[in-house]
Amino acid sequence: MKKRRLGNSNLEVSALGLGCMGMSFSYGPPRNRQEMTSLLHAAVDRGVTFFDTAEVYGPFTNEELVGESLAPFRGRVAIATKFGFRLGETGGPWAGLDSRPEHIREVAEASLGRLGVETIDLFYQHRVDPQVPIEDVAGAVKELIQEGKVRHFGLSEAGVETIRRAHAVQPVTALQSEYSLWWREPEASVLPALEELGIGFVPYSPLGRGFLTGKMDENTEFPATDFRSGLPRFTPDAMKANRVLVDLLAALGSGKGATPAQIALAWRSPGSPGSCRSRGPRTSTAWKRTSERPRSS
Ligand SMILES: NC(=O)c1ccc[n+]([C@@H]2O[C@H](COP(=O)([O-])OP(=O)(O)OC[C@H]3O[C@@H](n4cnc5c(N)ncnc54)[C@H](OP(=O)(O)O)[C@@H]3O)[C@@H](O)[C@H]2O)c1
Repeated sequence: MKKRRLGNSNLEVSALGLGCMGMSFSYGPPRNRQEMTSLLHAAVDRGVTFFDTAEVYGPFTNEELVGESLAPFRGRVAIATKFGFRLGETGGPWAGLDSRPEHIREVAEASLGRLGVETIDLFYQHRVDPQVPIEDVAGAVKELIQEGKVRHFGLSEAGVETIRRAHAVQPVTALQSEYSLWWREPEASVLPALEELGIGFVPYSPLGRGFLTGKMDENTEFPATDFRSGLPRFTPDAMKANRVLVDLLAALGSGKGATPAQIALAWRSPGSPGSCRSRGPRTSTAWKRTSERPRSS
């Protein structure tokens, strides 16, 4: 497995990360805990050293799963987690944004406990909170870094101005935003700014939330618990129209013995800075299928 250094930081991680959200949240009911633990161990065996979770995934249960499963590999893997939502009284679904400095501190303490670690390797603000100046957010994370509770600061889905302002207070190690063959918006202004500032990029949903694998079509139905049931890109009409892209990936892969998913992961825009991909299969076979390299590239 190749390694990547995120931006100008000293955080070196596997080029392919494992996003753990779908194991507990967003994509239908939570998966079997034992199977997910085996999947996390299989990923480590294959050289993955970068794992992605968040307080809101579950909520809470995904951090517990990731923390417990990766406990035997502490010090050898990096775990990223995220703050920034106000969770409802029952713990979910989220009731809005909350990046007040005192809340960031509370979340950090709770995440440390659930992950079972002394330091959070990478602590992202999950979504920009318009009620809290980004300088205050960066300042709160800076204090946590000074206290040894956090190693690196990250942002997610932030715009260029926000990134610049945050970075001036506390260097940002990585931005995590959606980026794939069917969502290339970051190329317009965000990727050039990251390059200029020396900030790493962690593209999430590189398989288009599963669509780019070719396993979905206009007849695919999502249960109400599946976040994709409410996304315009997953309506039957949109999936039918976008099928042409997956067919192209399949055609490109056929001569290389590669699946559409492997081609989607291998793709890297010419303009993208040193980045690693955070993808999320929930079965060992899906992981195996996608992480095996195409015969040639
Ligand atoms: N910062 C943010 O706001 C944000 C937002 C979204 C996600 N994320 C992070 O990014 C990670 C990745 O996002 P994602 O889960 O949307 O990524 P993704 O890899 O684009 O999509 C995951 C979907 O692809 C399917 N899949 C994966 N490999 C497959 C294969 N070989 N064949 C068939 N289907 C396959 C999975 O199905 P199965 O589950 O059935 O395997 C799952 O439904 C998340 O886990 C999370 O940690 C962050």
